[in-house]
Amino acid sequence: MSVDDAETDDESEPAPDEEEAATTEEPAEESTGAETDNGGDTEASGDPVPVGVKLGSTRTVIAMPGDGDDLETVRTLTCLATYEDAITGQEQVIFGEEAAEQYPDRVQFTLRSGLPEDEKGADLTRRFFQSVIEANDVPENSGVVYAIPTIENERGLANLQSVVEDSGIGEHFIQSYPESLCGAIPAFGDGLEAINEIFLAVNMGSTNLEASAYRRGEQLAPFTTGAVTGNEVDRRIANYVEAETQGRVNVDTQTAREYKEQHADFQNFEPFTDVIQQPGGGAHEFTIERSVMDAVDEYLDEVVEEFANTFLPELANDHMKVYQLALDQPIVLTGGMACIPGIVDEFAERASEALNRDVEAIAPDEPDLAATIGAQRIAARLTEN
Ligand SMILES: Nc1ncnc2c1ncn2[C@@H]1O[C@H](COP(=O)(O)OP(=O)(O)O)[C@@H](O)[C@H]1O
Ligand SMILES: [Mg+2]
Repeated sequence: MSVDDAETDDESEPAPDEEEAATTEEPAEESTGAETDNGGDTEASGDPVPVGVKLGSTRTVIAMPGDGDDLETVRTLTCLATYEDAITGQEQVIFGEEAAEQYPDRVQFTLRSGLPEDEKGADLTRRFFQSVIEANDVPENSGVVYAIPTIENERGLANLQSVVEDSGIGEHFIQSYPESLCGAIPAFGDGLEAINEIFLAVNMGSTNLEASAYRRGEQLAPFTTGAVTGNEVDRRIANYVEAETQGRVNVDTQTAREYKEQHADFQNFEPFTDVIQQPGGGAHEFTIERSVMDAVDEYLDEVVEEFANTFLPELANDHMKVYQLALDQPIVLTGGMACIPGIVDEFAERASEALNRDVEAIAPDEPDLAATIGAQRIAARLTEN
């Protein structure tokens, strides 16, 4: 299977007629494909297309205008595998869910630590991003805003920048904004209301926990720790599953992540069963009652602890007035871990207790997509100017 066939975990299905065309007219498309290098719906006008991008260590999300007023979002695991074409011998790239599923032996998550650390990581990420862009016809005739993590790693950030700049998209402009600001934008409204507010954002990602204050878009007192992360939750789930099953079941961290994403729920968690195939044949069915929720429960305690006891004192120290103003506003939770049902209310409750005062919390509708959607809105505003 080639890049063009690679499936992305696409939130917005293509229109039915497009889908049909893709399956019935593939040979025709192949013969004309070479002439159209500016993909998407952009041929009609020369206006730059506003595109939002987030290259995350677990998933990459791209947003651009779709049919009518709809936003089209593409969501895919940030991983790739290569294989040799059985007939031509040429190296082919396959990415995302398909790569993880079909080539578990050699799939590479290119941003495992959050940023491309070195040239090799940058090259892999380049190939991955290029493949995603081609498979989804992201237009070159575009203005791109990409969300960046708040990490003091100049080299990694420069590498990430080069990945986006070398991709060919963003002919009109390429700019970056902090991920937690981008992610908070959809929590405030349908536009860019967040940019006029003073608020606190807590970004709960796979490799980092970040907290910042924002004052009309200006980032203040940014705090980052690599100790409280979605990846660590996955590792704990894997360990707890082993303990809960008296050592009978070992799951890898990918499976642990899937358990977390499918079952973690602070309001209505239900024990679930899964089956493992045993090497000698036969299957072993087991039930998970505690492993997932124990791990996310500890995670949330640690998030609140870092927020209340490390980030906030530093903010109060540097910006007392902003601290006071911001704590009267809802705290915005962003990042993929904010998807866990009930986590927002639970955070507010535990943070209120830790701070001895009532604080509120909110999250965007789709925290895992929000940073990209916010970035896309900034890009749209920039293309208007
Ligand atoms: N629906 C979900 N439920 C629980 N956790 C989720 C969900 N979606 C994503 N996550 C978790 O969120 C983390 C990814 O968050 P994200 O903000 O995309 O991170 P990063 O910027 O580090 O790539 C991962 O640990 C992932 O498993
Ligand atoms: Mg992140």
